[in-house]
Amino acid sequence: MTDTTFQTGEEFAAAMDARDPLAHFRAHFCIPKTKSGDDGIYLCGHSLGLQPKSVSSCLDEQLQNWAELAVEGHFHGKTPWIRFHRLLASQTAVLVGAEPAEVVVMNSLTVNLHLMMASFYRPTKQRHKILVESGAFPSDQYAVKSQIRFHGFEPALSLLELAPRAGESSVRDEDVETLIDREGDSIALILLGGVNYATGQVFGMEGITKAGRRKGCVVGFDLAHAAGNVPLRLHDWGPDFAAWCNYKYLNGGPGCVAGCFVHQRHARAWDLPRLAGWWGHDEETRFQMGPDFHPMVGAEGWQLSNPPILALAALRASMEIFSEAGLERLRSKSLSLTGYMEFLLDQHSSPKYSIITPREPERRGAQLSIRLLGAGRELCDQLAAQGVTGDWREPDIFRVAPVPLYNSHQDVYRFVQRFLAAL
Ligand SMILES: Cc1ncc(COP(=O)(O)O)c(C=O)c1O
Repeated sequence: MTDTTFQTGEEFAAAMDARDPLAHFRAHFCIPKTKSGDDGIYLCGHSLGLQPKSVSSCLDEQLQNWAELAVEGHFHGKTPWIRFHRLLASQTAVLVGAEPAEVVVMNSLTVNLHLMMASFYRPTKQRHKILVESGAFPSDQYAVKSQIRFHGFEPALSLLELAPRAGESSVRDEDVETLIDREGDSIALILLGGVNYATGQVFGMEGITKAGRRKGCVVGFDLAHAAGNVPLRLHDWGPDFAAWCNYKYLNGGPGCVAGCFVHQRHARAWDLPRLAGWWGHDEETRFQMGPDFHPMVGAEGWQLSNPPILALAALRASMEIFSEAGLERLRSKSLSLTGYMEFLLDQHSSPKYSIITPREPERRGAQLSIRLLGAGRELCDQLAAQGVTGDWREPDIFRVAPVPLYNSHQDVYRFVQRFLAAL
């Protein structure tokens, strides 16, 4: 769907939807309704993905197992709970380009970032800095600053922030690599978002990983806005770790259990310090209840607790849909939807708004971030009253993401009409 020349009329959107091979997936999701009972225009999958209709039967299945099997559900039934997380890990591994043993589904995103930093942020007097993007998601900023202090260092000296050039909205990949080359000897950890939450910029994760590793830095990514959105090849690119949430593009439900990647080269790194819990212990001997911790091989060795099966069951509903749709086809439709939105917005150049997301399709995912001048949150509220859901990020950014699993070109067309009218 990507080599199309876009056109301005609504009939173009209808024609694109008519030949969309993924169009039927929309019917698998609960689309919020407007007051008049029509489908709303939901462009907020970058914040909370929609509910797959199959979630309730997936949950019901586990509730029934719990009711009928009780504790035996750990070992019996169609999907024994003891291995349930592994079903998800192998589906997730495909999405992030990893080996199944490199991925685990556990905890929540910020918790996983802390667990990863407990193992991989090992500051010394010479090498103590953490490199983050300036204006990183607040939770990441709090997490890295608290880790720096936890190790007895000061954020003022140990936090290195990467800002766009003056007058630019996104960071140039070559500037990241230049900074790493220049400062790398003092950087212990590079921790960047795969996709920046505010601008929608995709970082050049492969090049950054190479540059970081060349200088001996640990490299990790927060993939909250990347997983299920853009193609990832974590195993080949080779970062040390990554973590992401599953409630955005991955539709696992509010506060859903998160994902974590640890590269294979650390699979048997028994000497790495880690915060341990019994579910990370070797499963062969876990129930011998011994006092000494022997971690599982791979990412599972970082688990703490037995997994929340109901949350995993909800996520499984979405993972099944992803497996069927295939990330390659989704990316192709995503490029079309987002490119079409950009095209329509560009038809009406106005001093009242500008797109701050990179213009190059390979440097962005589904999201467009629109900077508003003179209008603010009230515009977002006005659109919401008309059934259009995007979100507002202070001080001046309106974020919208047409998501290929459930959005259509007509959604995009109608959004742009309403946005311009509201302006
Ligand atoms: C980029 C990024 N990092 C971290 C978080 C925090 O996630 P959680 O509350 O699941 O820990 C979010 C939440 O939206 C996010 O967008």
